[in-house]
Amino acid sequence: MRVHVYEKAFLSVGGALLVVFLGVLSYTSLAMGIHLPGHAGQIDPATARSQPPFDQPGVRQTGPNTYEAVVLASAWQFVPSELRVPRGATVTFVATSTDVLHGFEVAGTRVNVMLIPGQITRLTYTFREPGEHLIVCHEYCGAGHHIMSGKVIVE
Ligand code: CUA
Repeated sequence: MRVHVYEKAFLSVGGALLVVFLGVLSYTSLAMGIHLPGHAGQIDPATARSQPPFDQPGVRQTGPNTYEAVVLASAWQFVPSELRVPRGATVTFVATSTDVLHGFEVAGTRVNVMLIPGQITRLTYTFREPGEHLIVCHEYCGAGHHIMSGKVIVE
């Protein structure tokens, strides 16, 4: 079988890119520790409100400059709707939904996850600049989807 020279060239480029992409993927996940926002456990959505840590939603300090923000999403609100953290705080969001699929996006940051009923989502972000960030639900979740919002205030 004779393979045309251009075909060989395209195959080589494709093969080389595949190796490069796998290399980048391995390096970022193994050496740099970059992962998709985790799946940090499972919870019964019907009783999530009364189970820790979701029985006490809100921001709490976990270290010198680290905080945990526990958020419950339901149609059509985030509880709490306002999260206050100091400038420079590294915040680990721990969130879930008690009913349907919701979105959780902190505008102007890379915090952008889906909240899936039955799953706990965990994601860490450092707020370096003071200011206000809108929290929006970006998954259509019913008639009140457009009013489902909150905010992060970095003081
Ligand atoms: Cu919640 Cu859209």
